[in-house]
Amino acid sequence: MDSAAVKTRLASEAVRIENFLSSFIKGETDILAAAPKGLLAAMEYSLMAGGKRLRPALCLAFARLCGGNDEAAMPFAASIECIHSYSLVHDDLPAMDDDDLRRGKPSCHRQFDEATAILAGDGLLTDAFALMVSCGKTIPAERVLAATAVMAECAGSPGMVGGQFLDVGFTGLKDLDLARLRAVHAMKTGALIRGACLGGAILAGGGEAEQRAADAYGRALGAAFQIADDILDEVGDAAVLGKPVGSDAALGKVTYVSLLGLEKSRELAAAEKDKAVAALLPYMEKSEGPFLKGLASYVVDRVQ
Ligand code: IPE
Ligand code: IPE
Ligand code: MG
Ligand code: MG
Ligand code: MG
Repeated sequence: MDSAAVKTRLASEAVRIENFLSSFIKGETDILAAAPKGLLAAMEYSLMAGGKRLRPALCLAFARLCGGNDEAAMPFAASIECIHSYSLVHDDLPAMDDDDLRRGKPSCHRQFDEATAILAGDGLLTDAFALMVSCGKTIPAERVLAATAVMAECAGSPGMVGGQFLDVGFTGLKDLDLARLRAVHAMKTGALIRGACLGGAILAGGGEAEQRAADAYGRALGAAFQIADDILDEVGDAAVLGKPVGSDAALGKVTYVSLLGLEKSRELAAAEKDKAVAALLPYMEKSEGPFLKGLASYVVDRVQ
């Protein structure tokens, strides 16, 4: 699949995902019916502000690759986007990266206030788990339980939250080595991406080999994704990215670029892309194989 076809396909997945997210966050389902409208408005502001919707698209693609029905997997996929969006709301807070622009709009705490942004993030995180378990209506409960456990681990302190904690702690550190930076990236960004892939495979009843492939692909894609993010913070265009550039350098963040420079960072991103593609080799005849392979290139070549 060429890069234009990958982008078109991702865009059409994003529309389906956004339709689901929009009806969820507007309180149209039982899950959020009793939530305060003011809080839902802040949650909706950040959730529906755009974004590539890469994580839910990965989840749906792995569910399909493993023979699952993607309608049934949609609430689970959408819940991962809720968790991701909450991580962005909190990442931008003054106590963390203190960024004013996200997804092309003022960050949640700039549009509302800090308390609202903290609670909007809390709401998106917690309600995501309600959405995840709602899949138990159509998918066997033991699969939903196993996939939810994976997401809890990937999003929580052994995963994204732990990575964010280390990222904040390592800010300004001069002697951080590549191995530790790699570990932080794997947690703060890699874990959710890996969880999206593995969660989709588990939900669809994928076997051991399929789950291992999803895990390996997600791990490598997550590494490539954050290296590309570090590069874009250095050389990207804020108007296209929808978030500030130069933020890492201004904060004294240790990144691939600060540690290794642009050229070496690009080489490492390409090497991770190759690992992701290699994990999918046995699945290239399946309908989603070429799309997932194309997404690996998209992740390193992206400008957004
Ligand atoms: C940004 O993620 C935060 C990182 C993990 C690097 P994305 O680049 O996927 O952000 P959106 O969802 O497209 O806005
Ligand atoms: C944060 O990494 C990853 C998250 C878990 C949100 P960054 O701080 O580099 O993400 P951006 O560049 O602000 O999107
Ligand atoms: Mg950050
Ligand atoms: Mg940030
Ligand atoms: Mg960044």
